[in-house]
Amino acid sequence: MRRLLVAGNWKMHGDVTMTTELVEGVAAKVVSMSEGKDLSYEVLVCPPSIYLSKAVDVAGRALSEIKVGAQNVSEHSHGAYTGEISLPMLSEIGCGYVLLGHSERRQYYGETNESVAKKFAACTAFGDVVPVLCVGESLAEREAGLTEQVVENQIQAVLDLVGIEGFGKKYLQNTKNAVIAYEPVWAIGTGKTATPEQAQEVHAFIREMLASLDRGIADSTQILYGGSVKPSNALELFAQKDIDGGLIGGASLEIESFSEICKAAQKLAES
Ligand code: 13P
Repeated sequence: MRRLLVAGNWKMHGDVTMTTELVEGVAAKVVSMSEGKDLSYEVLVCPPSIYLSKAVDVAGRALSEIKVGAQNVSEHSHGAYTGEISLPMLSEIGCGYVLLGHSERRQYYGETNESVAKKFAACTAFGDVVPVLCVGESLAEREAGLTEQVVENQIQAVLDLVGIEGFGKKYLQNTKNAVIAYEPVWAIGTGKTATPEQAQEVHAFIREMLASLDRGIADSTQILYGGSVKPSNALELFAQKDIDGGLIGGASLEIESFSEICKAAQKLAES
């Protein structure tokens, strides 16, 4: 059975104080909501890289079930790549996840299906950091009826390099699959959320694409929805058959809204 994953992408927001307060605050809420029971879903926070160590330390002290992820990584393990951060560096500080190919990186920093796939392949070879592959279409692409084609191309570029096995239990001592996040670009930061039906349709398409290669891997891969997820729509979205949680931007920056979204995951996990 797939567990729900609630992931916060802080983007370029926050400072040292906020990192401490937000991680501690979310941990406290999550603990009190679980009423002493084991966490029935997963929580991940992805702060800017300069605060990763801080977030790992605070989570370690407050609630070790809260995982920490980076927002980007180099495809190289070391070398003369000014400004870059490598997978061994992330892993050394206790960062076990990394977002790859977020639409903002594709849009503003020239990342392509091929460059994202190379980073994914580096994760597969390294093994200690779970890649969260972000995919999704623009408004123009949706309106042109190209949603499935765009998403398929984004995933196929990765499959071409690592095969379907790259999505299987290759990560964190062979315990974790890769994660996919479907984030329609038109729903990011716009307040315009995909309807649960629109999102489910694309999630089902993604799962079928994986299943055509390996049913077991498809069934065990978490596919997150991202794009204006908030407390008021999280439950409905996460209740969809192929939606396994969310990648949350704006609403992950406040203790209250992020923990309300966690509460939706808990409710579904326990239902
Ligand atoms: P918002 O939740 O702010 O729309 O951002 C979504 C996102 O880009 C998460 O990666």
